[in-house]
Amino acid sequence: MAHKIITIDGPAGAGKTTVSKALAKALGCIYVDTGALYRGVAYEIRNRRINWKDEAVLDTFLSDIDLQFTTTGDDCLLTSSGTDISGVIRTGDISMLASDVSAHPLVRQALLDIQRNIGKTRTAVFEGRDMGTVVFPNADCKFFLTADLKIRSRRRYDETQPGNNDLETIEKEMALRDHNDSIRKESPLKPADDAVYIDSTHLSVDQVVTKMIAFIG
Ligand code: DC
Repeated sequence: MAHKIITIDGPAGAGKTTVSKALAKALGCIYVDTGALYRGVAYEIRNRRINWKDEAVLDTFLSDIDLQFTTTGDDCLLTSSGTDISGVIRTGDISMLASDVSAHPLVRQALLDIQRNIGKTRTAVFEGRDMGTVVFPNADCKFFLTADLKIRSRRRYDETQPGNNDLETIEKEMALRDHNDSIRKESPLKPADDAVYIDSTHLSVDQVVTKMIAFIG
């Protein structure tokens, strides 16, 4: 297969990560979870107690952090200054803060090159919110993956550790995050004009992947 960029955008809990991994495996390429970068920024802001609403402080912080992806097998790990932070960025708190900080133009600008550099040399499936619209407007194949809010929150609930959060809280936080991500001025969550729209409410992961492979050709 020639070098290709495949993008999958969509709201939280639509199954982007599961589908991206399965698709990358089927195509024999890497997958990149770009939401992890925004989570990594949020994690370091929390960790270092950064006053990110102060632009000068945020600017210095962004030039100081060192976030990198390492692909091992079919996993995509995120390191911060060499330490694997892939697990600790997956909390409800970090999800909300990631959504908040991702609306800031300085944050989006700082993460642009990391994403584009990966796509320069390798075939990859990129998942996020603005992959097809902003980061890779010339991607070879673009998908927008969504599902009903109730189904998405149920899937997220099933993934989380028992006792961590109730279904109602997950649904509320997810709706709030989708709203934040969709109304922001910078790179809002929306399908690219040329994206293939897939509603996975009534589809299994295999069915979604099969549809995507058929489009990729
Ligand atoms: O995909 P995720 O839930 O891990 O993403 C966390 C947050 O990061 C999400 O609420 C919005 C932001 N994000 C973004 O703005 N652009 C991306 N390409 C990926 C994620």
